[in-house]
Amino acid sequence: MSSIDYAEKIPNNVNLVTDRTLQRALEHWQPHFLQWWRDMGPSDFQAADVYLRTAISVDAQGWAHYGVTKMPDYRWGIFLADPAAERKIGFGDQMGQPAWQQVPGEYRSTLRRLIVTQGDTEPASVEQQRLLGHTCPSLYDLRNLFQINVEEGRHLWAMVYLLHAYFGRDGREEAEELLARHSGDADKPRILTTFNEPISDWLSLYCFTYFTDRDGKYQLKSLAESAFDPLSRTCRFMLTEEAHHMFVGETGIGRVVKRTLEVMKELGSDDPAKVRAAGAVDLPTLQKYLNFWCSSSLDLFGSEISSNSAANFANGLKGRPDESQYEDHVLREASKTLPTPEGDQTVPMLNALNEVMRESYLKDCEIGLKRWNRQIERAGFSFRLTLPSSRFRRTIGAWAGQPVDPQGNLISKEQYEKNLYSWIPSESDRAFVHSLMHKVAAPGKMAAWIAPPERGINNLPVEYEYVKLQ
Ligand SMILES: [Fe+2]
Ligand SMILES: [Fe+2]
Repeated sequence: MSSIDYAEKIPNNVNLVTDRTLQRALEHWQPHFLQWWRDMGPSDFQAADVYLRTAISVDAQGWAHYGVTKMPDYRWGIFLADPAAERKIGFGDQMGQPAWQQVPGEYRSTLRRLIVTQGDTEPASVEQQRLLGHTCPSLYDLRNLFQINVEEGRHLWAMVYLLHAYFGRDGREEAEELLARHSGDADKPRILTTFNEPISDWLSLYCFTYFTDRDGKYQLKSLAESAFDPLSRTCRFMLTEEAHHMFVGETGIGRVVKRTLEVMKELGSDDPAKVRAAGAVDLPTLQKYLNFWCSSSLDLFGSEISSNSAANFANGLKGRPDESQYEDHVLREASKTLPTPEGDQTVPMLNALNEVMRESYLKDCEIGLKRWNRQIERAGFSFRLTLPSSRFRRTIGAWAGQPVDPQGNLISKEQYEKNLYSWIPSESDRAFVHSLMHKVAAPGKMAAWIAPPERGINNLPVEYEYVKLQ
């Protein structure tokens, strides 16, 4: 186990003191990061005392420390999972050869692009969520939001470390650019569309952390397979933190469902208008939010048929999530048949890896749906939540711009346009959800549209004052 030295200006387990040039470069970037945090991080809560976990080692047995801190004092650091002895490349044309400790010249720009694209999503999500604190449904939720935010900040550090340590001057320039692009900015937006969508209500936050952070999990898992060992080790540790973000999404939606069911029982009705009038989120509206965020996140996997994904796999840069679960790690002989609007198309498996990833992602998304539907079933109601078809509302790939309903059927353009806002939130749906968003900041109290969590954080009671507002 490698522990982390908190006496250092930049906590790290990469022996930063032995590389003075790198240390100086990162110490130069650090105040820029802090300025970005103050300008673009959670608005207005910088002076609050927050009960946060901080990574203190990369040991699975006890990697985090919990304590009260102000967010700008959070110890953002650089932590890589311990190296695997004599690690070999696990897939692609160079399978079985030693993993790379340096970036091979021929893959330099592609690897840099992969790291920058991943890195860009981390601060983007903090920016998307920066106003949410003002409408938190409880101090427990507020703390979870801030926990996610500081960890996304740390994920940015993780990618910036790789850029500084392995990509020279280009890498340092990219690190500055990561602070210069901003979510939703007209001139300098974030790289990926989903990360420019504003998250202005907590229902969207739970959907984002359920669907979009889960895309993050799949991207990190595929990069954790990389032949470039420092990238692999970085992503392996990031996954440890990522699990909490998806927990917030899954339990958040589960608590919304629970509260809605309580209201439906009290009313003896599943009439959405009555549920809304009683101050809860009706299930059809929740379904629309799921449709919106799931379809938006599916685009993040890219085109079904992609020569980039083929090259990245063949060259060992990016594998499949959990590569070891597959039998064939080279894929030179395999093919896959994909449905397209023009009919089935059979392509080399290497070119279909985005779709392979998307399919396993959707399977992972089903887990929460099953749980929430069990809650609804137990409460005696017939409504069922579903995931939209992966062809619905796509803006990338074979199904881009096609009029497809959430079940995956091609329909007419007129039908699509007429029905779209019965499938995703309309302006008035959003206005209704926004009308529920009021800050609840007394310890242990919850907004009326969400049930309390089953337990508090780190064995503390739900009533604990997780954020002390100044
Ligand atoms: Fe992240
Ligand atoms: Fe995350």
